[in-house]
Amino acid sequence: EKAGYKHFMAKEIAEQPVVLGDALAHYLPEDRINLPETLDFTDLDRLTLVACGTAFYACSVAKYWFEQIAGLPCEIDVASEFRYREPPLPAKSFAVFVSQSGETADTLAALRYCRERVERTVAVVNVATSSIARESDVALPILAGVEVGVASTKAFTCQLLVLAVMALKAGVDRGRLTPDALAAHVEALRHLPGLMNAALSLAPQIGKLAEQLSQAQDILFLGRGSMYPLALEGALKLKEISYIHAEGYAAGELKHGPIALIDRTVPVIVLAPHDRLFDKTVSNMQEVMARHGKVLLISDARGIASASEGSWATLKLPEVPEPFAPILYALPAQLLAYHTAIAKGTDVDQPRNLAKSVTVE
Ligand code: F6R
Repeated sequence: EKAGYKHFMAKEIAEQPVVLGDALAHYLPEDRINLPETLDFTDLDRLTLVACGTAFYACSVAKYWFEQIAGLPCEIDVASEFRYREPPLPAKSFAVFVSQSGETADTLAALRYCRERVERTVAVVNVATSSIARESDVALPILAGVEVGVASTKAFTCQLLVLAVMALKAGVDRGRLTPDALAAHVEALRHLPGLMNAALSLAPQIGKLAEQLSQAQDILFLGRGSMYPLALEGALKLKEISYIHAEGYAAGELKHGPIALIDRTVPVIVLAPHDRLFDKTVSNMQEVMARHGKVLLISDARGIASASEGSWATLKLPEVPEPFAPILYALPAQLLAYHTAIAKGTDVDQPRNLAKSVTVE
């Protein structure tokens, strides 16, 4: 069942190039965006994305895409807050519910709240027969295949892919994407499975870093732009399976409080592709190093060449076109969590106190 892997989580991390390829073949066949006609973003005033946990972080990344690629105002919320806040919703809006299981109680309640209030409800789910899929107007399967490990891995990257394709359709519908720009984005997405294979080959290097990370009491993750939600996801993955306290921060927030935590015992994992925000993130990283924080810089060749001085370690990923970097950078974050948990000897597939499907609130 684990196909030769020690844990489902390891198998599911390794499957990502293949399952992402399956999702790409489904949603971007030839030169077409394969989404239902009823998902027409042309006249929308707003998109609302609601989910829990890792699925919420997928929504948080997608907010950057819908805003930047489609110029579409986008609200995100965790389902447990959204459902009781009972927010006003513009009639000309879609509400999107992202859930691996499709059975998360809070997300389902949020969907039920939205049904009569928005033009269209959309489910982005792994389990196509689930309650959230059945009760939504449109259900989009993420095609990740069964996910057994409690820590979500391949579902996260497949959720991101489906949300990215939705953002491209929104960009086309709203006249924000020229055919050439669309073609460039599609091409970039199609490259991801190959780039993911390169990321997976970092596993031995990550295994060595994990020996040291497993000694830490607290670990910080920093990112800017769409790497900020990925910092949150990296911290969640690490804490849930290794039980090491971890927090993700927007790099620019560091000086507003968390920098007080930094000393030589605190590893700080910086997720920073060489993009337009790179220099800003590097200056935050230097503030960490000035206080003897142990920086692990995850970047590409250009980023590492220009900014690795003074860092504890680096991990080099291939270059990836700017908006879609989170889909690739998710993999080292997952591998860091996995190998750190292995070094600590925790139960990776069945972490304490957690359930795969949270059907009670
Ligand atoms: C973290 C994790 C959880 C789930 C959350 C939502 O690795 O797996 O945070 O993402 O419980 O679950 P679904 O996606 O089934 O609604």
